[in-house]
Amino acid sequence: MKDVVREIVNKHHNDPASLISILQEIQTEEGHLSEETIYEIAEALDISESKIYGVATFYTQFKFKKPGLHQIKICQGTACHVKGSNPLLDVLKSNLKIEPGDTTSDGNVSLERVACLGCCALAPVMVLDDEIHGKMTQDSTSEMLSSLKEKKSKEEDRD
Ligand code: FES
Repeated sequence: MKDVVREIVNKHHNDPASLISILQEIQTEEGHLSEETIYEIAEALDISESKIYGVATFYTQFKFKKPGLHQIKICQGTACHVKGSNPLLDVLKSNLKIEPGDTTSDGNVSLERVACLGCCALAPVMVLDDEIHGKMTQDSTSEMLSSLKEKKSKEEDRD
């Protein structure tokens, strides 16, 4: 069993009633809930994996795929939709070659669709790694993606 799983489960006294807290804490540590992690939690709490999936899939906060190094969230709320978030989503999808909920094959970028981010005056809005980008256009979206590619190639040159 991974140390992080053991520590968190022990902290909650192997109590199945603490399942959601356990899942949240492990996801905070690991970025997502892998199949292996779900198996280990099931063993430790003596409950079935399907019960854990049943609980975890009910909440949108839980991720089962490893997130990318960078995360782009695009708001799909009404104000952003009216201000043209769909064409921006198309730019993201065609450029990254992934659908929302996925990560690029190089592990660099994850794409997610989210509900209103509460800053509708800035619509259409995206979030890149927790930084809000408002009044996005197709050009500024392409620039954002180019800067991520540049950052990645600089990091690769350094390695
Ligand atoms: S609808 Fe996008 S921030 Fe509110």
